Amino acid sequence: MDLNIAVLSGDGIGPEVTNEAVKVMDVISKKFDHKINISEGLTGAIAIDRKGNPYPDETHQICEKSDAVLFGAIGDPKYDNDPSAKVRPEQGLLEMRKKLGLYANLRPTIVFESLINNSPLKKDRIQNTDLIFVRELTGGIYFGERGRKDNGNFAYDTCEYNRHEVERIAQLGFEMALKRKRKLCCVDKANVLESSRLWRETVQNMESRFPDVKVSYEFVDAVAMRLIQWPSEYDVLVTSNLFGDILTDEASVISGSMGLMPSASIGAKNALYEPIHGSYPQAAGKNIANPVGSILSLAMMFEHSFNREKESNIIKQAVQHSLKEKITTQDIHGNDKTYSTSDVGDFICNYINSFS
Ligand code: IPM
Ligand code: MN
Repeated sequence: MDLNIAVLSGDGIGPEVTNEAVKVMDVISKKFDHKINISEGLTGAIAIDRKGNPYPDETHQICEKSDAVLFGAIGDPKYDNDPSAKVRPEQGLLEMRKKLGLYANLRPTIVFESLINNSPLKKDRIQNTDLIFVRELTGGIYFGERGRKDNGNFAYDTCEYNRHEVERIAQLGFEMALKRKRKLCCVDKANVLESSRLWRETVQNMESRFPDVKVSYEFVDAVAMRLIQWPSEYDVLVTSNLFGDILTDEASVISGSMGLMPSASIGAKNALYEPIHGSYPQAAGKNIANPVGSILSLAMMFEHSFNREKESNIIKQAVQHSLKEKITTQDIHGNDKTYSTSDVGDFICNYINSFS
């Protein structure tokens, strides 16, 4: 296959971890005879520094022309503590999601058996956890009307959804559930919010088209609790932008290894893959960050964008192997010896190469 990949490595540890995923992409493409064309683009704080814009037009064009985007991380502390900053790296991310139409954010939580003791939660609670959030990404309170009144003394943000937006995300949730444990949980706050009532009504209307999927409806506050009490009960959870933002951070704690978690942002025409961790500026340039989140994001790319499960499975297997052999970076505690970002990438590449 000919694959056109946009690589936006961004800020902080983004470039280092993305580099390892690109190494893996190289090895896989040789093995499976794919021709990969990479185009690099600037995004985040580095794009503000160089172009005055966290998501410059050139970058958007590169993304639009690509089959898939591999994304690193964005964010720089120099903007975090400056409430008066006119442009922020995060605006680039939101603009990119909106302009590329990436309406669905898939965030899996997997518990790796070899790392089960890394979780702050008890083993018997988290064993067999394998869930995925389908978070709406281009609507809701993130993009609704907002502003200030009364000389700046009154502020408002509005949560807005239309039926189509809910339908397309729920459709994806139902389809994912069919391929998994056939359970779908609609997470909302329908006891209070009108937009949540639209969510619930829309999902209810779709139920009859998916008779094999068992649907449940739970309020977001209850899910926040049950998610860490009994995570293995869940399969696919579909929810709005803000609820999904909060709950997926919570869910990342279950596995005890945020550095390992990948994500995909899917649209009608394009898709973007990125580790869920941030730019971790304290570690930038030190070759110590965990590249596995980025490498597993690449596995998601092969699965979702290219329908190549074989490539995806080999990458996942190589990662499992590295964890079992304790070839891990320093964020994975409990190992006597730790390895660098590039060591871990090399180990995974070598394993894939040796795979017949
Ligand atoms: C995420 C991040 C972003 C979000 C921020 C950086 C805008 O927290 O991808 O979850 O809130 O969506
Ligand atoms: Mn978030």
